Amino acid sequence: MQGQVRIENLGKTYHARQRRGLFKSSESRVEALKGIHLAIQPGELFGLLGPNGAGKTTLIKCLTTLLLPTSGAAWVNGYRLTEQDNLIRATVGCMLMGERGLYWKLSGRENLEFFGALYHLMPATRRRRAAEIIDLLELGEIAERAVETYSSGQKMKLAFGKALINDAPLLILDEPTNTLDLPSARELRAVVGALNERGKTVIYTTHIMSEAETLCDRVAIVDRGEVLALGSVPELKASLKREAVTRIEGIISNAAARAVEGLPGVSRAALAAVNGHNTLTVMSPEPRAVLPRLIEALTAHQAVVQKIVPEEVTLEDVFIARTGRTLADDTRVK
Ligand SMILES: Nc1ncnc2c1ncn2[C@@H]1O[C@H](COP(=O)(O)OP(=O)(O)OP(=O)(O)O)[C@@H](O)[C@H]1O
Ligand SMILES: [Mg+2]
Repeated sequence: MQGQVRIENLGKTYHARQRRGLFKSSESRVEALKGIHLAIQPGELFGLLGPNGAGKTTLIKCLTTLLLPTSGAAWVNGYRLTEQDNLIRATVGCMLMGERGLYWKLSGRENLEFFGALYHLMPATRRRRAAEIIDLLELGEIAERAVETYSSGQKMKLAFGKALINDAPLLILDEPTNTLDLPSARELRAVVGALNERGKTVIYTTHIMSEAETLCDRVAIVDRGEVLALGSVPELKASLKREAVTRIEGIISNAAARAVEGLPGVSRAALAAVNGHNTLTVMSPEPRAVLPRLIEALTAHQAVVQKIVPEEVTLEDVFIARTGRTLADDTRVK
């Protein structure tokens, strides 16, 4: 086997019942993963970046043996998925359901020791590991309290600690900073970075572009069950180097955005609502020449432009260039 994780043509189709009235239902198919190929090397901090519904959790659930893939194959830590699942589970530290994976009546320390027991750690070892994790995550003050009394950020931290209990060489974390405030999220990312420095391979899923950008060595951008782009952050940005990005803030309708996308010299235009503001991201190889036409098209569609800023290319722009959508779009099949 090459690498810590190798994924070959992995597919997952869900069959879900759809209600049609009180007594009727039909079956719908959701192709959540469409032939994923990826190889993750030992020591990498690997990001899976994609919008809601991209298939990130589905991929993680397959890799951690919680879901049976529909097609393809994968090897995790040298073990073949579906054939050596016990060995995979023993060598992966996983944070998947966030706080829902904890026992709320037990204290933080009891939770860690309990999950240590599930991994067959000797009592002395699990006590030591639990104490180390409590120290590392600065949970000392609340460690003896029942988890039901924790704030949601504290529960999230403990859920992350649970992924460390078996001291696995591979950590798989599904949106671990979800529900954390900004300083706590920054702290948790620092711990993940430090664990990676000490040799752990990490797979880190997120829909927050800046997280992937600041934390990860390599990133796979996923959307609708497919890997759209793969590389280091500088490589992904360089793939757009012929394009310049202009961001326009104001009151901008969908029709105005579509008119801008139709202009000659504009390769992509994507509209997102952020904090009550509309932001239109426009990509063009010749932004100066396009600007007058752009303003004309916007005003013809009654847009109110408050700010126009030329910007550095971000990972989100790579996503926009491939899909015409922003990462904030929800692509879940409803
Ligand atoms: N149990 C299920 N039955 C049917 N469809 C499902 C099921 N679980 C997920 N899906 C669908 O599969 C697709 C991928 O979902 P998934 O949860 O893997 O996305 P995600 O990238 O983790 O999204 P998020 O950022 O919202 O967590 C979505 O269209 C979702 O609606
Ligand atoms: Mg998810």
